[in-house]
Amino acid sequence: MAILDKHAVIERNATILMVLSLLVVTIGGIVEIAPLFYLQNTIEDVEGMRPYSPLELTGRDIYVREGCYVCHSQMIRPMRDEVERYGHYSLAAESQYDHPAQWGSKRTGPDLARVGGRYTDKWQMDHLSNPQSVVPVSLMPKYAFLKDVMIEPTYITDLMNTHKFVGVPYTDEMIASASADFKAQADPDADGVDDLIARYPGAQVRNFDGQPGVSEMDALIAYLQMLGTLVDFSTFTPDASR
Ligand code: HEC
Repeated sequence: MAILDKHAVIERNATILMVLSLLVVTIGGIVEIAPLFYLQNTIEDVEGMRPYSPLELTGRDIYVREGCYVCHSQMIRPMRDEVERYGHYSLAAESQYDHPAQWGSKRTGPDLARVGGRYTDKWQMDHLSNPQSVVPVSLMPKYAFLKDVMIEPTYITDLMNTHKFVGVPYTDEMIASASADFKAQADPDADGVDDLIARYPGAQVRNFDGQPGVSEMDALIAYLQMLGTLVDFSTFTPDASR
């Protein structure tokens, strides 16, 4: 009881309480923050993660522009209900090349962190054009116009340089071949498909929207079909030493 009596002294004296609280919070803060200054990296390296290809990066920009993140998160939490519904919980490494991050704060629609490969391109195309045609109760807006907006890789080098500036490891070779890679990913018959895949392992090369040329729909579907597919979770084991 003696110790409780001593504590009562602190609780009854506002000045001592404030000074001691400040002390405790300061020590706690230092313990949490100080190690971060000495760590090179807080993100575990994970095999398979690579910077986004030019077409995927363009699709990601369209995703951000259209505000898809307002209704969709891209972060699977390590809780059983989430893991059973969406797949392996998200790793920090999986969003390390996302500037800005697309974790999202609201789920009006489902999490999209692992939506890649879950549906066919045709389904994605039908769903984006008119969500209610495949999910009658859906309240997602229609994005049919995306397939009519044809795009050229005019600014792709600038975009990749900007991402490089904030830390995405794009090589000079990747930046020099950006335009060619952009076109090749939506055209399986193009020259340079092998080079594209060598630069971006696992890149999916298809005419995503099924019509000639590269549209915003191609870029967005290329991005969606890549989400969550880069890390192979059949062989992934977390590094417990960190
Ligand atoms: C107003 C909120 C809203 C916005 C904005 C929105 N969505 Fe959705 N989305 C939903 C809802 C609700 C669903 C679930 C019903 C359905 O499948 O349509 C959904 C479903 C999806 C699915 C299927 C996911 C799954 O696992 O079944 C994809 C893919 C998707 N949205 C992509 C997008 C993209 C890309 C954008 C931006 C171009 C977008 N959404 C914008 C609400 C939204």
